[in-house]
Amino acid sequence: MNKSAVTRELIQDVMNNFSLPHTSAHGPAHWARVRYNGLLLSQYSGADPVVVELFAFIHDSQRHNDGHDPQHGPRAAEYALRKNGVLFNLSAEQLDALVEACRGHTNERLNDCSTVQTCWDSDRLDLGRVGIMPDPYYLGTAAAKRHEILELAYARSIGKRSRVLRETVSREMVDLLRYLPDNDDNFQRDRLSD
Ligand SMILES: [Fe+2]
Ligand SMILES: [Fe+2]
Repeated sequence: MNKSAVTRELIQDVMNNFSLPHTSAHGPAHWARVRYNGLLLSQYSGADPVVVELFAFIHDSQRHNDGHDPQHGPRAAEYALRKNGVLFNLSAEQLDALVEACRGHTNERLNDCSTVQTCWDSDRLDLGRVGIMPDPYYLGTAAAKRHEILELAYARSIGKRSRVLRETVSREMVDLLRYLPDNDDNFQRDRLSD
């Protein structure tokens, strides 16, 4: 079984370097939902869950604003390259996938690598938080296009209580969620009910 590469040290470093409010639509609550989506999709897509988790916490962490910031993906890729060997240790193949996923997550639609595609789908399944219903055209994994997965991800993204999340959240996830702000009702309820 793969061990998570998302450590307290990594979360702390990402948070320390995040220049937006922690309530940002591209902030920690979004990262946690992307992580959840990614680990769920990985079970079907065959994606590398280590890369998927790191993508979740890194891909938007270098944003300078919540609006037009086309270079935030490439900056996140640079962050990943800098931190490999410091805060996590990836193989060359894993690092390539993480860098590609971060760099292309806003401009590119599909990718042949199931890990990269799972990262992108995980992010896009959380678009409900900014008022957008995910469009299957922009999803590449079969799992993400499944009605029940898309609908449940959408429900989480708009703050509806998720029985599925509550029942499947791991002890490790509970630990990581302690780094989240207290104003994400969805995750707070799930955390507290664990
Ligand atoms: Fe982004
Ligand atoms: Fe994102």
